[in-house]
Amino acid sequence: MPAAEAVRQPERKREALLARLADARANTDQLFDLVHPDALYDRPIPERHRLIFYVGHLEAFDWNLIGAGARERPSPRASLDKLFAFGIDPVGGNLPSDQPGDWPSLEQVRDYRAATRHALDTELATFRDEQMLNVAIEHRLMHAETLAYLLHHLPFDRKKRARQDAFFTGHGAAPHMVTIPAGRATLGLGPEGGFGWDNEFRGHIVDVPAFAIDAYNVTNGEFLEFVKAGGYLDRSLWSDGAWEWIQSQNVTRPGFWNEHGNSWSYRAMFEEMPLPLDWPVYVSHAEASAYARWKNRALPSEAQYHRAAFGIPANAVAGDGDENPFPWGHLAPEEAAGNFDFRRWDPAPVGAHPGGRSEFGVSDLTGNGWEWTSTLFAPFDGFEAFPFYRGYSADFYDGKHYVMKGGSPRTAACLLRRSFRNWFQPHYPYIYATFRCVEN
Ligand code: AVJ
Ligand code: FE
Repeated sequence: MPAAEAVRQPERKREALLARLADARANTDQLFDLVHPDALYDRPIPERHRLIFYVGHLEAFDWNLIGAGARERPSPRASLDKLFAFGIDPVGGNLPSDQPGDWPSLEQVRDYRAATRHALDTELATFRDEQMLNVAIEHRLMHAETLAYLLHHLPFDRKKRARQDAFFTGHGAAPHMVTIPAGRATLGLGPEGGFGWDNEFRGHIVDVPAFAIDAYNVTNGEFLEFVKAGGYLDRSLWSDGAWEWIQSQNVTRPGFWNEHGNSWSYRAMFEEMPLPLDWPVYVSHAEASAYARWKNRALPSEAQYHRAAFGIPANAVAGDGDENPFPWGHLAPEEAAGNFDFRRWDPAPVGAHPGGRSEFGVSDLTGNGWEWTSTLFAPFDGFEAFPFYRGYSADFYDGKHYVMKGGSPRTAACLLRRSFRNWFQPHYPYIYATFRCVEN
């Protein structure tokens, strides 16, 4: 490479990151524009902050990380940096009880956002830490999804309708299982693997015994059989904690479903519709586990998900580099088929994107809903927290969260990399998470 080119390359990379941050900002700004202004003080999910928190949070996070953190600059609106610093993940705690009047006015929060973004841009003009830029971009894009969960549960008349891609086809095939022969799977990310969050390191190889896995996600139609068979009333299918939870919530069916006499409707993002039987069911980990037990099956482990998604049949003893980066192969997600990267707000029928199938013939492993695993969220051997954000993962290594893999309709393309690990607690019914079963 000519010398001048070698100098320009890091600058180009930096500019590409700043362009991605600008895109991510446009994305989250548009999300707030969907909310009717008087609904910004609503709390659509009882366990989470009011929407207004997130208007300030995304800017506060970037500022605390880069402006105040890395650059040690005085804050343009210091009094609010703390208020907007952290979200909440209450495991079995009390629900938040703050009132709308406890928050600053919309005018103040908008001023905070504008002033903080402006001050940050001054720093970014000369900022070169690629890792921190990636953290800011991906943090914001993760919130583009968690905000979609929140907006999903707002009443329809409190948000504006946005467009979405139509899906083209149903799969037209019966549910079946695919046998995955014993082999190895690479979990996590190696030192040369590019950006990853702390929990993705250290990359390592695990042996996975043979198993069988559902070719498609469990659909609303299949889950309906479980509901009709009295699955929610059968104590033997639920763990102690899960049973206590469904009793306390009085849950008798997935949270996205509504009951009308003896028919069911589905609460999609912008409308109520007859239950789409061929869409993947969105349920909590507790409900997914009960269904799997009813079938005499189990949820896949994180390693089994990796084998089914990224393994290459001809290459049983895979090692690093011998697996696909994506289920469909090497194409970037932007070029590949699947229900992800903000193309839709709602699921598509299972199997509607045959181009996204893994080499073992398993469909929809990336997109159309995160996949619950049986693996507790825990550090890989040699884990080290980011010194500038120690709690990102470590605060959740508490034996109370499960790993989710894959991605949903509202997951950004960059978060669909093989090593990305998402996690939630098992009794959280508001997220775009589905599942499939395995037989071991
Ligand atoms: C990785 C999606 C579980 O939303 O709780 C956002 C991401 N962490 N701000 C979450 C996160 C801090 C996190 N998840
Ligand atoms: Fe956050």
